[in-house]
Amino acid sequence: MDIDLEKSLLLKHNRRSHSPLPPKHYLYTVNINKTSMSDKATHGFDTVCIRGGHTSESNRAHLTPIYASSTYVFDSAEQSMATFRGEEKGYIYGRWGNPTITEAEEKIALLEAYGLTGADGAPLQLKAILHASGMAAVTTMLLANVKAGQKIITHFSLYGGTHELIEKILPTLGVQAILVDFHNPTAVEEVLKTEKDIVLMYLETPANPTLQCVDLEVLSTLGKQYGLTVCVDNTFATPYLQQPFRYQVDYVMHSTTKFLNGHGTAIGGILLGRDVARMSTHVTKTHRLLGGNSNAFDAFLLVNGLRTFGLRMERHCSNAAQVADFLAAHPAVAKVNYLGLAHHPDHHIAMKQMRHAGAMMSFELKGGFDAGVQFINKLKMCTNAVSLGTCDTLLSHPASTTHIGVAREQRLQFGITDGLIRLSVGIENVADIIADLDQAMM
Ligand SMILES: Cc1ncc(COP(=O)(O)O)c(C=O)c1O
Repeated sequence: MDIDLEKSLLLKHNRRSHSPLPPKHYLYTVNINKTSMSDKATHGFDTVCIRGGHTSESNRAHLTPIYASSTYVFDSAEQSMATFRGEEKGYIYGRWGNPTITEAEEKIALLEAYGLTGADGAPLQLKAILHASGMAAVTTMLLANVKAGQKIITHFSLYGGTHELIEKILPTLGVQAILVDFHNPTAVEEVLKTEKDIVLMYLETPANPTLQCVDLEVLSTLGKQYGLTVCVDNTFATPYLQQPFRYQVDYVMHSTTKFLNGHGTAIGGILLGRDVARMSTHVTKTHRLLGGNSNAFDAFLLVNGLRTFGLRMERHCSNAAQVADFLAAHPAVAKVNYLGLAHHPDHHIAMKQMRHAGAMMSFELKGGFDAGVQFINKLKMCTNAVSLGTCDTLLSHPASTTHIGVAREQRLQFGITDGLIRLSVGIENVADIIADLDQAMM
């Protein structure tokens, strides 16, 4: 598209969004394709989604095939020796990687670094390692960076699985987590001053399921001041909306199961690091030995999903803003929790560090628990399922599903009220989403 035309469309789009231009509109220098495009060409975000990380393949397949091979063959003993020594590039064993996995890793690394520069002013280089799940990526990151006797600092609003890992598994390995309110940097600093064994800060923003946001710039600066390794779970925002590496963090992880794959076809996780040398040695070794590797089929599905990632996010975001407005005006709805609405307690933090409020929200039905159950049963199009970030709109009623075993008092403390519905807005025509929600609330 003609750049001036693109800019004028952008201005139009920007008037409707909460924040600066989405990243697809930044033009930046990236290494898109080692073979068919120039290494130093200038490309947009969507072009990186489609072409980034792709290398041509010996049989001239258009797309990188599913490398369903557990091992790789050497021409000679000398070649295997050179490959094992790292003197010659090449694949060795499926647990250590394959070309389909490499394409997914390189594409996501380019997207997460998009438009950012390193200390030397050159485009930021990241190394990514694809895992079997988001939980496998967190595990590799934690075990590569924390050892017995050391502590981590984190906050209350984490994805439940991460919270349980930190609360139940880490103590058995001699690692203690200190949970602090990350909305209060003074309290965080007080802890950092007294607890000398803290080595790592772990943040999730926006958090699942509460959508709480914490200030990446403030917390990362504080963490770095006290010599900590800083890791951010960027699953809810994705690199389309938020790039934590902008704030000097060391690691970013994602559950690729969600928006990055976008079609709900594969579980996966990715760990990205700014220290490429450490990622390529110590962290790679940890990943290989823990065995939480991805596989060629899931990587293929992820690569395929990523090709439309920018386009999908644009539609997810614009649909979500319209759905939030509809819900906020609906008489059956007591409250809408959406980062784009000015009354959300973290609206300002979100707008400071995210390009748009995203596609996740929750809302409370006035009728409480029974209204929640009835609403779910009356849905005709939207899907009653946990997970998020897929093309289709997904809804769930936590009080009758994910939190059914949690005592009501405790559930209310987490903000999970009786009539709360969690909503991941899909990319269907927004009128159809709204019509379905409306008829289910009658
Ligand atoms: C924010 C967040 N982080 C991590 C995970 C774990 O990812 P996975 O289910 O792919 O292991 C999830 C899963 O829902 C999540 O929502």
